[in-house]
Amino acid sequence: MAQVCLNQITRQFDSVIAVSDITFEIPDGEFWVLVGPSGCGKSTILRMIAGLESITRGELYIGSSLVNSIPPRQRDVAMVFQNYALYPHMTIAQNLSFGLRMRKVDPITLNKRVESVARSLNIDHLLNRKPKQLSGGQQQRVALGRAIIREPKVFLMDEPLSNLDAQLRDETRAFLKELHRQLGITTIYVTHDQVEAMTLADKIVILDQGTIQQIGLPQTIYQRPTNRMVATFIGSPTMNILPAIYSQGNLCIQGQFIPLSETLKKSLPLTESVRVEVGIRPEQIHLTSSEKSGLLSAIIDLIEPLGKEILVRATLLDTETKLSFYASFVDSVKVGDSVTLQINIEQIFIFDPLTGKTLYP
Ligand SMILES: Nc1ncnc2c1ncn2[C@@H]1O[C@H](COP(=O)(O)OP(=O)(O)O)[C@@H](O)[C@H]1O
Ligand SMILES: [Mg+2]
Repeated sequence: MAQVCLNQITRQFDSVIAVSDITFEIPDGEFWVLVGPSGCGKSTILRMIAGLESITRGELYIGSSLVNSIPPRQRDVAMVFQNYALYPHMTIAQNLSFGLRMRKVDPITLNKRVESVARSLNIDHLLNRKPKQLSGGQQQRVALGRAIIREPKVFLMDEPLSNLDAQLRDETRAFLKELHRQLGITTIYVTHDQVEAMTLADKIVILDQGTIQQIGLPQTIYQRPTNRMVATFIGSPTMNILPAIYSQGNLCIQGQFIPLSETLKKSLPLTESVRVEVGIRPEQIHLTSSEKSGLLSAIIDLIEPLGKEILVRATLLDTETKLSFYASFVDSVKVGDSVTLQINIEQIFIFDPLTGKTLYP
């Protein structure tokens, strides 16, 4: 087992800078998730750690060794990919033991390892079958088993669940977490799925356009995003962003003045009237029948029943600003209805509209 340390790592493909100045240190045994939209550089970082991609600048340490120019096989890392590609003509047992046979591990040790790994993955009853006789989820467990059986110092996983259907993905996700708890191997997991990131990670690294946006505990990232990109990427449905003007302790959204609390005013680094963006999560917006000031008007565009409640998508009246919020079935709202909304002002975020930086909280 080992810690993994990246120091100012950059990877350039000709003139394209795929990732730049990536720095983080994963303590031994932790499960870290790299998350971000497609093309943000997740796989490039993972492939550099695996040794499958060269490093243009910066240093990479696994344990206490600088491994920049160490070939993949000598790094003692195991990588699991999205498409688990098992050898179709071999049994599950043979698939699991393939790497060990190549390394001339003696047959007794080899069988013991196959049995123990198969047991921990719940595939011990499948050892004599061929891959095509297994479900997708079982095949992915075999792929995990091939990685585990080598007892690597570090696990690298690149979107390992994205080929599974929703239910199997949930199950395998829970299983991966349990497996990590048992084995305690340092794991770096790449995904574009923020739910996977939130549920699996000890720490999350959020990437956008090749740079780190924030590193933190899942809850911290959710509650204290450093900028609009992080705020809107984490959380589903995504945080609503409403254009607003801050002036003398009020927020003006859609021509409506919403007074801010003293605490909120004090912690805002704003002195004069400025344009801002207000972020508000869907669960902090509610339908109201009150006629008080400071309420927003919207027209309902779409209604999505979710089972226990409904998700409503709407447009602020006389604007092009879209927002979403939850309502209950008893609210009996319809597409085209004009509604009044109250936002929970204690739970807002305020962003600088130019830089996207969080101004509050
Ligand atoms: N071999 C390559 N040659 C040129 N550009 C590449 C290569 N691999 C990745 N890139 C570029 O680097 C960026 C990051 O890609 P990637 O790491 O695959 O992103 P992600 O895994 O987050 O979707 C993209 O802009 C991609 O086009
Ligand atoms: Mg990728």
